[in-house]
Amino acid sequence: MTAQFDYTGKRVVVTGSSSGIGAATARALATAGAEVHGASRTGDATGLASFTPLDLADPASIEAAASAIGDPVHALFNCAGATPMVAPLDILKVNFLGTRLLTEHILAQMPHGGAVVNVSSDGGYAWRKRQSIIVEFLAARTFDAGLAWYEAHKDESGHPYGFAKEALNVWTMQQSATLIGRGIRINVCSPGAVQTPMLEAIEAVFPSEMIDAVTVPIGRRSTPEEQAGPLLFLNSPAASYVNGIDLQVDGGFWAGRTLAGAFH
Ligand code: NAI
Repeated sequence: MTAQFDYTGKRVVVTGSSSGIGAATARALATAGAEVHGASRTGDATGLASFTPLDLADPASIEAAASAIGDPVHALFNCAGATPMVAPLDILKVNFLGTRLLTEHILAQMPHGGAVVNVSSDGGYAWRKRQSIIVEFLAARTFDAGLAWYEAHKDESGHPYGFAKEALNVWTMQQSATLIGRGIRINVCSPGAVQTPMLEAIEAVFPSEMIDAVTVPIGRRSTPEEQAGPLLFLNSPAASYVNGIDLQVDGGFWAGRTLAGAFH
């Protein structure tokens, strides 16, 4: 594999390093010269500088993992995620509350020039019309307060997979306004359908036609490597003026839906 970006001398963290988009990102970063530290619920240190067990549903595990990883961390790639089929509260914990908590721990030690990228989803696109409820949720600033808010507002929040991704997008935008004062950028990538073990698990439960509906107009699913490239770009100096964006990596799906009036 040829390196698309130069990460020589950079100490980076990839969550979800054991599978799918995270594994492809870890491989691409190693090729680009980074010292890659992986963290996931499952997996091992193959191809990595280190591997730290991490359960994003558990604040104690998150704190222990952040401390074991240590510093400096020049770039954080939040690729871990739970499928839409696990228990609702676990989806919210892993895909937003735990990801936020881990990021806060790592940001506390991140040097000037650092960068964070969060893997959201085309399923989180609706933040564009649901900002008020999401901002209310984000005002619950801790893991436990966020959980309590969600339990009290389940009905209006919608499915936790979409809600967690919407929250990740809006939280990223909020953080971008303040972190840039420390010289740190933070962005989101929103994949469409990516051929990974998560998508295989979804396809075992939901019809393939439902997944293929989001491959319009490109007509095929993404490989994990096609997601890794934009993630490496966003956390590299090549994106030094890119901050607080939601980069759609969906083959043009949401461009078409937006023109078709999905957000009028
Ligand atoms: P995957 O299932 O292949 O990998 C998920 C990774 O997250 C694994 O390394 C797993 O160990 C880790 N993980 C799961 N639960 C965890 C927990 N409680 N604590 C720590 N780590 C945990 O999934 P994939 O497809 O690579 O997904 C990566 C991200 O991309 C997720 O955030 C997912 O929501 C998002 N995404 C995926 C799409 C797809 O079509 N595959 C589409 C849109 C977004």
